[in-house]
Amino acid sequence: MEYRFATHMTTITGNAIREIFKLVGNPEIISFAGGMPSAESFAKHEIADIYKELLDEKGESLLQYGATDGYYPLKVAMVPFLADKGVTATEDGMMIVSGSQQSIDLMCRAFIEPGDVVLVERPTYLAVLHILATHQAKPVGVEMQDDGVDLADLEEKMRAHRPKILYLVPTFQNPTGRTMSLEKRKAVVALAKKYGVVIIEDDPYRDLRYRGEALPAIHSFDDGAHVVYSTSVSKIISPGMRVGVVVAPPEILRKLNIAKQAVDVHTNLPAQAVIAEVLNRGIVEKRLPAVLEEYKVRMHAMLEALGKYFPQEVKCTQPDGGLFIWLELPEGIDTTAIFPQAVERNVAYVPGAPFFCDGTGQNTMRLNFSASNIERIDRGMAALGGLIGELV
Ligand SMILES: Cc1ncc(COP(=O)(O)O)c(C=O)c1O
Repeated sequence: MEYRFATHMTTITGNAIREIFKLVGNPEIISFAGGMPSAESFAKHEIADIYKELLDEKGESLLQYGATDGYYPLKVAMVPFLADKGVTATEDGMMIVSGSQQSIDLMCRAFIEPGDVVLVERPTYLAVLHILATHQAKPVGVEMQDDGVDLADLEEKMRAHRPKILYLVPTFQNPTGRTMSLEKRKAVVALAKKYGVVIIEDDPYRDLRYRGEALPAIHSFDDGAHVVYSTSVSKIISPGMRVGVVVAPPEILRKLNIAKQAVDVHTNLPAQAVIAEVLNRGIVEKRLPAVLEEYKVRMHAMLEALGKYFPQEVKCTQPDGGLFIWLELPEGIDTTAIFPQAVERNVAYVPGAPFFCDGTGQNTMRLNFSASNIERIDRGMAALGGLIGELV
C-alpha cells in the first residue's frame, strides 16, 4: 500500500531529541541531552497517596469526561500559582492544557494558515519548530543577545513580515538558558502593540531560579490584548502528568477551547485533580527549595567543568536558572557529525542545529545539568571536553 500522506508530513523528521533518547537509554552513557527534572525531585509518595485519596472520594466524577477548559478546583488553585509569577488571571481567563506544549499547538490551530510567518528566537525551543511545520507556518528567526531578542532586528522583522505571532521563552530559555531583561520585556509588548502581533510567552522554567531577582512576566506589561501566557507544572511537579495552563484574552480563549475540543476533549482529569491538591497542600513550596539547591550545585559543577576541561575557544552561556547551558564551538566543528564519537566516549548532548529555523547553528550544542549528579557531570564533561579539545 502506498500511503498518500499529507505533503507537509513528508518533510518533517520528528523531534531530534526524541531520537537521541533512544540512543542514550544505555545507563553507561552520561546524558546531558534531556530537558528533564531529576528523578529525585518527584514527590512520588505524596502523589500516590493523593491519587488514592481522590479516586476513593471522587472516583465517579474524576473517571468521567470533564470540561474542556479545565477542572474548576485546579483553576482556582492556578490563580495564586500564576500570581506568584506576576500573572493576574481569574478562573475564567485561563484554560487548563495538556502541558505548555499544547498551548503553542492550540495557538497555531487558532491563528495559522499555511505560509503565515511566526517570529521565533534564534535559536528557539525545537519542538516549536516541529509544531510550526505541522501547521505549515513559516518560522523567521530573530537574533538574540545575552539579555534576550535584539529589538532592532525584531522591529525590522515585524515590519517586513507582519507576523500574527511572536513566540518567546523569556526566562531561562530553552535552549540557551538566557533571560530577557526588564527593559526588553516592556519593549516587546510595545512593539507587539505597534505592529498588531500576539506574543506567546512560554514560561515553564520560571520557578527554577538559582541566583538573582525574579523578573515580572511579559504578560504583566500587557493591556490584556497582546500577550498569551503559558506555563506548566512539568518542571516543578511532573512532566509525565501533562498539566499546564494558558492565560489569554477572552476572544482568543474561546478559539483555543474550540481547538482543544477537537484535539483531546480535555486534559486528563485525575491528573488535574491531583495537581490541584499538590498545589493546595503546599507540596511544591516544601520540596522545591531543596531541589533548586541541588540543581544549582549541578549547574555550577557543569560551569566549573567547562572551565577545566574545555578549550577556551568554546563559548558558553551563564544562566541564572533553568536546566540548560548553551555552547558555541569554533566554526567548522559540526556537533551533529561528532555526536557518534561522543556516544563512543559514553557522553551525550543535543546538537544545536535543530534549534535554528534557518539551517544554521552546526557549531552549537545544548547541555542539560539537572538530570546528572556532580560525579557524572564531571566525568561526562571531561570526556566531552577531551573530544572537543582534539578537534579545535
Ligand atoms: C520552552 C518550552 N516550552 C514548552 C515545553 C513543554 O513543556 P510541557 O511539559 O509543559 O508541555 C518545554 C519542555 O521542555 C520547553 O522547554
